[in-house]
Amino acid sequence: MTSPLLSVKSLGISTVQDPKILVKDVSFDIYPGEAVGIVGESGSGKTLSVLSILNLLPRGVHVIEGCITYKGDDLTTFSPEQMRGIRGKDIAMVYQDPMTALNPVMKIGKQLLEAIESHEKVDVRSEQRVRDALGEVGIPDVDRAIKSYPHEFSGGMRQRVMIAMALLMSPQLLIADEPTTALDVTIQQQILSLVAEQRRKRNMSMLWITHDLGVVANLVDRLIVMYAGRIVESGTVKEIFTNPQHPYTAGLLSSLPTTSDPERKRLTSIAGVPQKPWLVGDSCSFAPRCFKVKADCLESAPRLEGTLEKSVSCFHAIGVKP
Ligand SMILES: Nc1ncnc2c1ncn2[C@@H]1O[C@H](COP(=O)(O)OP(=O)(O)O)[C@@H](O)[C@H]1O
Ligand SMILES: [Mg+2]
Repeated sequence: MTSPLLSVKSLGISTVQDPKILVKDVSFDIYPGEAVGIVGESGSGKTLSVLSILNLLPRGVHVIEGCITYKGDDLTTFSPEQMRGIRGKDIAMVYQDPMTALNPVMKIGKQLLEAIESHEKVDVRSEQRVRDALGEVGIPDVDRAIKSYPHEFSGGMRQRVMIAMALLMSPQLLIADEPTTALDVTIQQQILSLVAEQRRKRNMSMLWITHDLGVVANLVDRLIVMYAGRIVESGTVKEIFTNPQHPYTAGLLSSLPTTSDPERKRLTSIAGVPQKPWLVGDSCSFAPRCFKVKADCLESAPRLEGTLEKSVSCFHAIGVKP
């Protein structure tokens, strides 16, 4: 087997002041050309885990353990300058709110050109590249688009512009943090098929974050399920959907709207509220909400065990153990 493009090992993230553990023992690999999804409720540590890859953690939060290897180099040891060389070029990021990445007072054409300029000298061919990139993501009137400001686009079109910007340098890994959450379902589906098509064409690896399992089912090859700052289960989409082993994953799946009743609102079938990552202690993070909880779940924390195909962190897994 080839070696992973990105490898995250035993990642731990905490607040700097009054240290609180926010992410603990997160490990996963992404292979060349592979698309991996991270799912979990709000607050489960998805965003912090991916921001740490590009050394973009917010002030007051830092990596306390683990390593993040990209093509064999440990990114946690990179200088800010080395990191700038990777960011946007090898690994690009798409955010939930396009305005995080786009400058509101600069025309789109200039912004995209500047994105190229931060990695290489620009010339007339660069301008053509900007046009091609906008065309490729389905921006209808490219001539007009390059002269427009971000606010002149609809939410969906702004996301397309941001995806065009992310793809400009032909990154090998695209990280997307819930980029379609704020969009309505139809626009969301259009953006997802656009991204899926670009990924196939470019054989690009992808890490796609969402709080909605239904969104990523057709987009990714493997899934990582996070709960309270930990990975509770991971595996191929087929394994996760047909043989969920962690009670939390099973709960997430049963809360998906059924295809026979697509209008049905998301059900909350998991009783209780998500655990704060720093309050987990030495027990299983899901124990307080788990219908299968036993004494041993409160005495020590299960470790993620299994294969790339399927891993689970539970003493009393349901379904067939890996
Ligand atoms: N800048 C910050 N300072 C302190 N705590 C934070 C900060 N950002 C996030 N957190 C906390 O870290 C946990 C994980 O957050 P996050 O990664 O944003 O979750 P998700 O993306 O899964 O919703 C949450 O409990 C959140 O409140
Ligand atoms: Mg988030």
